[in-house]
Amino acid sequence: MSIFPRITSRLILRPFLDRDLAEFAVYRNHPDVARYQSWSTYDMSDASTFFEQQKDLVFGSDETWFQIAIERRDKGGLIGDVGVHFFDEGRQAELGMTFDPAHQRQGYAQEAVADVIRLLFTELGRHRLVATVDVRNVPAIQLLERQGFSREGHYRKNIWFKGEWGDEYGYALLNENWQAKHAKAGVALDE
Ligand SMILES: CC(C)(COP(=O)(O)OP(=O)(O)OC[C@H]1O[C@@H](n2cnc3c(N)ncnc32)[C@H](O)[C@@H]1OP(=O)(O)O)[C@@H](O)C(=O)NCCC(=O)NCCS
Repeated sequence: MSIFPRITSRLILRPFLDRDLAEFAVYRNHPDVARYQSWSTYDMSDASTFFEQQKDLVFGSDETWFQIAIERRDKGGLIGDVGVHFFDEGRQAELGMTFDPAHQRQGYAQEAVADVIRLLFTELGRHRLVATVDVRNVPAIQLLERQGFSREGHYRKNIWFKGEWGDEYGYALLNENWQAKHAKAGVALDE
């Protein structure tokens, strides 16, 4: 079974290609994108290291992060990425998402994440998805809650982050809850 490419109404989801490298480095280096991420700046050498790590990765391998490239169907070009961390011997996965500011607030991230959730729950039968977010990261929190994730934890001062202790929320979504909402025929799954 070939997982990629995946097509949604406005997007193509696919593995990264060498031609994505420059656009990837530019949006990851944007201060608004880096604010709640593990990096503060992101240059071409960071992007090259990332590309080397991703090259031989098999989607679904336990204890790896696979980054899915997100491209617009109408114009082409990279607009963001959705990362999937596979863990618990194929039972669970963690999500992360990063979008170019020029392509935020237009529902693209939501559309891509909805499709990745569908892939993980239906085709790959994962039991539970999780995500950890900085409590100040309102767009990420809204995105997760719109997809049906529940806030299961508030971790107080649990991470030494850019010079200070930071609070994070733990979010999770169970396959059975997602199925109950989405598996009915005719429901638009990328909304
Ligand atoms: C987290 C992140 C991916 C969210 O991106 P986003 O573009 O805000 O998310 P969405 O795709 O859900 O966009 C939702 C907005 O688009 C609007 N929108 C416009 N057109 C839309 C459409 N056709 N369909 C759906 N929503 C649409 C929605 O109304 C919503 O706006 P609102 O929040 O004012 O109500 C983005 O903020 C980001 O990349 N941040 C930096 C990296 C980061 O911190 N990642 C999180 C690490 S866990």
